[in-house]
Amino acid sequence: MTKSYLEAAVEIAREAGRILREEFQRPLEIAYKGEADLVTQADKRSEAAIVSRLKEYFPEHAVAAEEGSGRESESEFRWHVDPLDGTTNFAHGYPCFSVSIALARGETLLAGVVFNPFYDELFAAARGEGATLNGRRIGVSRTPSLAASLLCTGFPVKKRGQAHANIEYYRDFTLKSHGVRRDGSAALDLACVASGRFDAFWEFGLNKWDTAAGVLLVEEAGGRVSDFEGRPYTLGGPVILATNGLVHEEVRSVALEIRQRVRDASVA
Ligand code: IPD
Ligand code: CA
Ligand code: CA
Repeated sequence: MTKSYLEAAVEIAREAGRILREEFQRPLEIAYKGEADLVTQADKRSEAAIVSRLKEYFPEHAVAAEEGSGRESESEFRWHVDPLDGTTNFAHGYPCFSVSIALARGETLLAGVVFNPFYDELFAAARGEGATLNGRRIGVSRTPSLAASLLCTGFPVKKRGQAHANIEYYRDFTLKSHGVRRDGSAALDLACVASGRFDAFWEFGLNKWDTAAGVLLVEEAGGRVSDFEGRPYTLGGPVILATNGLVHEEVRSVALEIRQRVRDASVA
């Protein structure tokens, strides 16, 4: 094995990206995991390619992949794979989707790649080595305040018809900033914080494969990632807040105010 972990992740993400581009041109075969939770042939083909390559290159490592084809292992090395992040966008022909692949050793993220094959944008990071977009170094924005920020969030796909408290956060943050985007690929949302396009991103209930690569990108690009209490974010935790660092405390304190209001309203 002569490839570094990051080189392997980049190669594999590009291979999966070719599959997603090919599938994007074809009529869709959609299945439903839940009422509004789609899975396509593209998710499955992409995952099969990624998992088989990871097994070939790293036979000892564990692989956690969204559609369930990974494998358990005693190894402390674990790959987190989202073969198609943004399936709903993909299924509607909206070209905002990505492949997300990251490697962690225990709790420490070592390498991560987020690739949007439609726009050929490949975001990559290795611990201690910075973050890049198509090979060029990237960094978070220098926006100093919430009022001057462009934010991003997302909503769970599994709960149509049920009010989600995030609507309250969405409303308040929209009124206090330059706006809140809802782009539909959490991995790309985090990559956009890392590259300074968004100043902050938050979301509830994301899975490890949604955030693992993006979190490393933001950290290596000089940003900050935590929960709303300011504790370090743990993969799969109930809420993630990723920012350029400069607006972190301001965004966090507004989020805590909103949370208190939502809680008060639910007991009133
Ligand atoms: C979804 C996307 C979306 C986020 C959802 C995720 P999927 O992942 O990341 O942006 O809001 O919570 O489930 O299902 O397209 O892989
Ligand atoms: Ca996802
Ligand atoms: Ca997915």
